[in-house]
Amino acid sequence: MEFKSPVTIALAKGRILKDTLPLLKHAGIELRDDPDTSRKLILDTNIDAVKVVLIRATDVPTYVQWGAADLGVAGKDTLVEHGGEGLYEPLDLQIAKCRLMVAGHPDASLDGQRLRIATKYVKAAKQHFAAKGQQVEIIKLYGSMELAPLVGLSDLIVDLVESGNTLKANGLVPLEHVMDISSRLVVNKASWKMKHETIISLVDILSEAVNG
Ligand code: PRP
Repeated sequence: MEFKSPVTIALAKGRILKDTLPLLKHAGIELRDDPDTSRKLILDTNIDAVKVVLIRATDVPTYVQWGAADLGVAGKDTLVEHGGEGLYEPLDLQIAKCRLMVAGHPDASLDGQRLRIATKYVKAAKQHFAAKGQQVEIIKLYGSMELAPLVGLSDLIVDLVESGNTLKANGLVPLEHVMDISSRLVVNKASWKMKHETIISLVDILSEAVNG
């Protein structure tokens, strides 16, 4: 494809980057720098008009919202917590798939009032329990949620489950499905208008890569 406008794509190191690179390759975009060894945060690609910025997964929607990046790849979990202001979400990339689940001890009760829920996913957890008409107390954590029910910090957790191995290793089980998660392509709303032709072509070609 032809890049009539320059574009910056925000990606997060780890699984999202690894799974996004083959999709970008389908669009003819390849990194010049090796993200595993380089400590650069702005990476060149084989196309002069295309740059990749490497940031924390939770910061991707913010960079795209403010137009510091035109496009980005972010998990649905991250997008729900961010709120999605200033962003379009034109494509489910079907990568980094997992589930957001309520989890806890195998004999934990799901139905009590004022249950304490430890999670990094505060908005998603609030929405989930509000939809069930259940009043809960949310305790915000930044990681290792599985520890919370083991040490009596919370009754339950809301966390991502992929293989289920982390829960199992800690004697916990998934109890209730909150939502299916996958990574989405997000686009800054102004870039969508100003760089329409380039961005639409890129979305189309990525969509082709996703759908085989
Ligand atoms: C995620 C999640 C679980 C684990 C689930 O953590 O929070 O802890 O992966 O994967 P599994 O079902 O395959 O065991 P991650 O490693 O992303 O780190 P985090 O604790 O910072 O979220």
